[in-house]
Amino acid sequence: MTTPARAIGTPLDRFDGPEKVTGTARYAFEHRVERPAYLHPVQATIAVGRIVGVDTTAALAEPGVLAVLTHQDAPRVASTEDLEVAILQDAEVRYRGQFVGGVVAETSEIARRAADLVRLDYQARPHDVELRADHPDRYAPEVLNGGFATDSVRGDPERALSTAAVRLDATYTTPRYQHNQIEPHSTIAVWDDGQLTLYVASQGVHRLRDSIATLFGLAPERIRVISPHVGGGFGGKLHAHPDVALAVLAAMAVPGRPVKLALTRQQMFSQVGYRTPTIQRIRLGADADGRLVAVAHDVVQQTSRIKEFAEQTASSTRVMYAAATLGTTHRMVALDVPVPTIMRAPGKTPGMYALESAMDEMSIACGRDPVEFRIANEPAEDPERGLPFSSRNLVACLREGARRFGWDGRDPTPRARHSGGWLVGTGVAASMYPVYRLPGSSAMIRLGPDGRYAVSIGAADLGTGTWTTLTQIAADALDVPVGRIELRIGDTLLPPAMAAGGSSGMTSWGCAVVEAARRLRARLADGYAGVVPAEGIEVSADMPANPHGDSFAMYAFGAQFAQVRVCAETGEVRVPRLLGVFAAGRIINPKTGRSQLLGGMSMGLSMALHERAVVDPRFGHVVNHDLAGYHIATNADVGSVEVHFVEEDDPYVNPMGSKGIGELGIVGTAAAIANAVHHATGVRVRDLPITPDRFF
Ligand code: MOS
Repeated sequence: MTTPARAIGTPLDRFDGPEKVTGTARYAFEHRVERPAYLHPVQATIAVGRIVGVDTTAALAEPGVLAVLTHQDAPRVASTEDLEVAILQDAEVRYRGQFVGGVVAETSEIARRAADLVRLDYQARPHDVELRADHPDRYAPEVLNGGFATDSVRGDPERALSTAAVRLDATYTTPRYQHNQIEPHSTIAVWDDGQLTLYVASQGVHRLRDSIATLFGLAPERIRVISPHVGGGFGGKLHAHPDVALAVLAAMAVPGRPVKLALTRQQMFSQVGYRTPTIQRIRLGADADGRLVAVAHDVVQQTSRIKEFAEQTASSTRVMYAAATLGTTHRMVALDVPVPTIMRAPGKTPGMYALESAMDEMSIACGRDPVEFRIANEPAEDPERGLPFSSRNLVACLREGARRFGWDGRDPTPRARHSGGWLVGTGVAASMYPVYRLPGSSAMIRLGPDGRYAVSIGAADLGTGTWTTLTQIAADALDVPVGRIELRIGDTLLPPAMAAGGSSGMTSWGCAVVEAARRLRARLADGYAGVVPAEGIEVSADMPANPHGDSFAMYAFGAQFAQVRVCAETGEVRVPRLLGVFAAGRIINPKTGRSQLLGGMSMGLSMALHERAVVDPRFGHVVNHDLAGYHIATNADVGSVEVHFVEEDDPYVNPMGSKGIGELGIVGTAAAIANAVHHATGVRVRDLPITPDRFF
């Protein structure tokens, strides 16, 4: 049963919009603190080895320097299990750029200058930072991120491939992608009388608090994390990274002085996680009627020697299409590199680039239209678990997208359309993202005698719209106008909430809020006869588990259409038109929801044409470590982007009937563009990004 929708489904403007555009919304670095000090990190200049000499004399002699930290004198942490954050605890250097020191000073300029004066001598050892498909140290991780199995097999795909009427065997690669939120990772750490206060750009204040508590051996109650506004997350601000750890170490070195740290853009390229590069071999087999009989997806990717992060790259392949046989594998290489992390639809984004490119190639090999080819291979139930889908409207998205895009009558011949020196083509790909409801969220609602409802939950707004959409959910659950709701999020003093990850926030937090609202209304109906006592009425509720969780497979789907123009002379690729149609349950707020998907599609375009972190194998660092060298699509790179929704009524996902949309928009976009590029040029680009050199 879904809650009745009044506020839900309304395209309300963001409640936090005026604060943001007038500059009064406080981001982490901007919180007012007394007598702040400024921290600048010292970074390792070798990839692997040992620090054998430390000289901080010159740095300490700089006027205005308050403290210089190195592994020799930094405070000790309680747990060195997580070597990504247990920094400055020994002399080892484990990747290039690792934080090996820090300077605290009266101004950020002094701190930066003094950090340059810290002298470290190293004994370097040989390093390995290059992912190769035939790397001798490949291994199978025990489990993938998100709990996905490392390998999967259904039937005998090898055998089915060997006898299939039509076969494809192609390898696709994606490069390393870097988190580059508009707001760089920032922290203010205040260590005062055994209490730690952190103002941090965070996707989840409680998760961060618990990580820092474990690292430093502090009781969680002694740590408060505050994060009301976040300037972009995308996965990079979910787990604790070395910057927060360094800020806490520095704050402990100057007790009573709040320590401010904002990473430079360059520092972000080694500190806040990134998406692993992938090498993906896909083999497809089909019968003479264009029905898939075998799908094999084998992935090689990297992690860091100091900590494993195993991206779930082929996980989407397991549920996309009906094929009698299917096999997926993930193999990893542990390198002397920073730790990869979740990023913009982890696994699904690179995995669906490969699968949906291969589906395009296969549709051509089978002589089928790529829209019809996908529809012909639509599964009746989840091929992985044999469960019915709670709702699956990929076919409706493909058909609606084809209609809106003007797909019908498309001439499939490659390199057949010219316009003023440009080759023109169109492409399509599917999108998908699971519906997650992650445990660990509670909500509290307090009805005051003034008839206003304070709704409290430690949720996060990464710029995604939580301030607005969670208010809409609360209003409908309480059956009152949104103006009566006062939402409180982004603070560990509020009831615990799951971090904003896996597009799960609105489902997880929303379920907790709806449950608390239900209890409050029951209390009101029972005992108060409509009269609220002077002290108010307060109820709390944990997010209930989904009673349908084991009965249905729950996913959102979409169809991505792209038109591209490729300059015949230079190979420059432009994308005048992107069109996405998505079936994602009930859309809580069509305005902020559209923005989420539009942003995701733009990031997919960015992935298709621009983004690539280039590592220098001699030194182990990212060479193009700024926004000049690491190009992210901006308005000028994006033509028309259309977002449409297919109406979907799903009573099983949650009481709101909604599905996560934070990541759905990026999935499939790069494949749609690559497929359009093939249609335009006849060149199949299997290695992202699609740069001009691919055509000559
Ligand atoms: Mo998202 S990459 O799961 O924060």
